[in-house]
Amino acid sequence: MRKYVIAGNWKMNMTPSAAKKFISDLAATLPAQNKCDIVLCVPFVDIAPAAEAAKGTPIHIGAQNVHFEKSGAFTGEISADMLLEAGAEYVIVGHSERRQYFGETDETVNKRTRAALAAGLRVILCLGEVKEQRLAGITDEVVAMQTKLDLAGITAEELKRVIIAYEPVWAIGTGLTATPEQADETCGTIRRTVASLYGQAAADALIIQYGGSMNDANAAELLSKENVDGGLIGGASLKTDKFKAIIDAANK
Ligand code: PGA
Repeated sequence: MRKYVIAGNWKMNMTPSAAKKFISDLAATLPAQNKCDIVLCVPFVDIAPAAEAAKGTPIHIGAQNVHFEKSGAFTGEISADMLLEAGAEYVIVGHSERRQYFGETDETVNKRTRAALAAGLRVILCLGEVKEQRLAGITDEVVAMQTKLDLAGITAEELKRVIIAYEPVWAIGTGLTATPEQADETCGTIRRTVASLYGQAAADALIIQYGGSMNDANAAELLSKENVDGGLIGGASLKTDKFKAIIDAANK
């Protein structure tokens, strides 16, 4: 019933010319009847050229962050309207690297999510536990709390434009992947939390991705799990053949 969404998070990689080449190379390999949704979340300066290169292909373009104010004296920040006009349809909010290195809190993640949705963007909302929390056995509590805080004030109608990416922080960029069972279980906890907030039908329709060292070798098994509806992929989204293999796993 739910469609797979395979999203690449390029982080601080790829210049505009590299982005254009990647997209035309990838598009050339995609089947005419591509079943899953494909999103590439690219650096800000790549958005316009990437959106241009993606025209007429099944590839959608996203950004990696957005500010919550509409405009003003916020040096270095980008507004939702700017992203939309440049050609972005999606934006990642609350990535653990933003939380770890740039002081993002559940409060700012919530403000950014609300602003992005109000402007008309789709949001890929990232959350997940750190290693100490998993070892302490409090993963479920942590992700339930993040889900509630990050979605505060978001309407049921707006939730239809939200994807939640469950990304255990200990698995990001480390080569350590959550087992398919761990991913399924924690995505299930997130789905139950959303059901408690918005009802079962909204929770059943919600796309929940797994992220954290997903690659061409482990994607099929992770995606086979009931509660895993796609992936947010960092390292393996930077090579067309590896990213295409994950898309193939989702198209099966
Ligand atoms: P990774 O990154 O696939 O390189 O672990 C995932 C992410 O940060 O979204």
